[in-house]
Amino acid sequence: MLPELSNPSVCMRDPKRVQEILESMQKAGSNTLQVISDFDMTLTRFAYNGKRCPTCHNILDNSKLISDDCKEKLKNLLDTYYPIEIDSTRSVDEKLPLMVEWWTRAHDLLVEQRIKKDLLASAVRESEAMLRDGYQLFFDHLYEHSIPLLIFSAGIGDILEEVIRQAGVFHPNVKVFSNYMDFDESGVLKAFKGELIHIYNKREGALLNTGHFQELRTRPNVLLLGDSLGDLTMADGVQDIENILKIGFLNDKVEERKQSYMDSYDIVLIKDETLEVSNAIMLYLTGNK
Ligand code: TMP
Ligand code: MG
Repeated sequence: MLPELSNPSVCMRDPKRVQEILESMQKAGSNTLQVISDFDMTLTRFAYNGKRCPTCHNILDNSKLISDDCKEKLKNLLDTYYPIEIDSTRSVDEKLPLMVEWWTRAHDLLVEQRIKKDLLASAVRESEAMLRDGYQLFFDHLYEHSIPLLIFSAGIGDILEEVIRQAGVFHPNVKVFSNYMDFDESGVLKAFKGELIHIYNKREGALLNTGHFQELRTRPNVLLLGDSLGDLTMADGVQDIENILKIGFLNDKVEERKQSYMDSYDIVLIKDETLEVSNAIMLYLTGNK
């Protein structure tokens, strides 16, 4: 057993099963492995020194690109819909239309702000976005071992890319599926492109539309990282999966949600702001540990 799996933040429904999956994936070799990860609150930190860290949307919401009046409206949306997102007493069926409503209203407000493309980089630079500790090893090691990393995010693709670009880890093995901004010829935000990705439609529909899917077919072993129960379906578009190991970050409302996370993720990391466990697994799977 990897020593990191005994960290106090680690909870497992069935440690023996985790061990079996890990051994089977390790035996298959790193050229059969792919990583599929959520972004907000999975690759980025949930909190730092007791203060919440921003999501992609929050990076914009808190920036100079948004008027005070709009900030207020976005904050009201967050205060209304975030408690619903993490409410363990409501079913997905009940939450789904409300999440679509949140994303739609937030995107409509952002479009009204006529955000300029060339100011996004400075908004990210001035933000408090933080990747989890250990991100450098995580991204660099996957790149060095030619393991594809798919970041599947209901956040904003343009912002997410900028965060990893500024951190120096937007390597060529990284592909992003997310909500991308559509700018007019003068570089002003006019809409969001394509079908909306929200937290409950992360599945094959979005994957099938991309060329990246072909490459992933030949990699039947999947390491999945997420922080929401909606992230569990991110690998649904990968056919003929041999093994999948699901790691879930449980950041908020721990007691209420622990059981449902334990039931659906193989490894649950409770209030763990690091990629330490994921890195140990990645090193093991690539024969470096
Ligand atoms: P994801 O991490 O599953 O990809 O989802 C993106 C996160 O973005 C989700 O936790 C909710 C959050 N969000 C905001 O913070 N502000 C917003 O306006 C919207 C629509 C989502
Ligand atoms: Mg997330």
